Amino acid sequence: MDTLRVELAERGYNIHIGQGILKDVGAYIKPIVLSEKVSIVTNPSIWDIYSNILETSLLAEGFDIDLILIPPGENHKNLKTVSDIYDRLLKRRMDRTASLIAFGGGIVGDVGGFAAATYLRGINCFQIPTTLLAQVDSSVGGKTGVNHPMGKNMIGAFYQPRAVIADTATLKTLPRREFLAGVAEIIKYGVIADSGFFAYLEKNIEGLINGDSNILSYSIRRSCELKADVVAKDERESGLRAILNFGHTFGHAVEAATGYEEYLHGEGVAIGMVLAARLSAKMGLCREDEANRVIALIEKSGLPVSAEGVKIEEIMEAMKVDKKAAAGKVRFVLMNSIGSVSLKSDIPEGKIAEAVSGK
Ligand code: NAD
Ligand code: GLY
Repeated sequence: MDTLRVELAERGYNIHIGQGILKDVGAYIKPIVLSEKVSIVTNPSIWDIYSNILETSLLAEGFDIDLILIPPGENHKNLKTVSDIYDRLLKRRMDRTASLIAFGGGIVGDVGGFAAATYLRGINCFQIPTTLLAQVDSSVGGKTGVNHPMGKNMIGAFYQPRAVIADTATLKTLPRREFLAGVAEIIKYGVIADSGFFAYLEKNIEGLINGDSNILSYSIRRSCELKADVVAKDERESGLRAILNFGHTFGHAVEAATGYEEYLHGEGVAIGMVLAARLSAKMGLCREDEANRVIALIEKSGLPVSAEGVKIEEIMEAMKVDKKAAAGKVRFVLMNSIGSVSLKSDIPEGKIAEAVSGK
């Protein structure tokens, strides 16, 4: 088992990563909680598979638990679901000493984390991520929130969990497509912050996508270390943290242009990273061979590298909507080289269109 720390002074916390550690959750959180009252937020299919292990672990430590099931899917990541969670917490008379466990993928983590951040102005939250994407990205760093009809993740709060507990054994039941979506975020960390890790991924991508336990554990740990380091330096994204959005400007546009139904978030990010790498080379910011290495690794991992059937105009249009939401500026994270990126705005529209069309 590995334990890392997100260094945020009084808001600092541990990330525990290991195979089979779900059965130890009760023991990990026992010393941190303020009372035995715990509500678990999850979705029915995750609970079907893992209720036994988690419940046993919590009951063995004397926890008084309540289960709050939320429906799966991005269209339920909204204020209605959060309000349903508040109802349950209030009916149970959960006070400020109570805790909420968000047990699932990024959707459960974002919704549960936001409910914990806002219920009684904040109760203890524990993140127990069960998708690869959530283990390497969404459970760490304290971004919580929900969608609004006018945009994705528009309502939210920075709210750090008290601990993250990532059991890599839970990934064995994850559908392959969901697993690969998490691989996209792992590749992202190599590109933005660690050329050595990127080279490791180039060498070990077969093992990673086939779930080799040593390669997977190392990749999750290194990703969390890199994210924790960025978050510790810039918790609220006043600058540096934005590098975590490499591939996301194009990625969001691809997701939005397809109504959030065609591509998983990680797949959108994969396509977005290909376009961002291409744009970086086109702008003369990075060498073409380095951009091509990024594209080749994404392709080798079996992730999509282009948005099949989506018209360039649709992607450009979605980016304009994003631009409005971001006070008139579309910001891109572009590569200087593998392991180093910078934030850029005011990229000529023609260059963006060329990158999208693959010219
Ligand atoms: P998800 O939460 O929808 O989970 C994917 C699917 O896998 C779901 O159907 C779920 O029921 C199922 N599942 C989860 N764990 C399983 C397991 N162990 N075995 C079998 N099935 C399992 O998707 P996701 O990719 O984890 O998260 C995507 C969300 O995360 C998006 O809403 C995105 O905006 C958000 N996100 C947030 C952050 C952040 O920093 N807060 C970062 C990245 C993404
Ligand atoms: N996923 C981007 C961030 O946590 O800032």
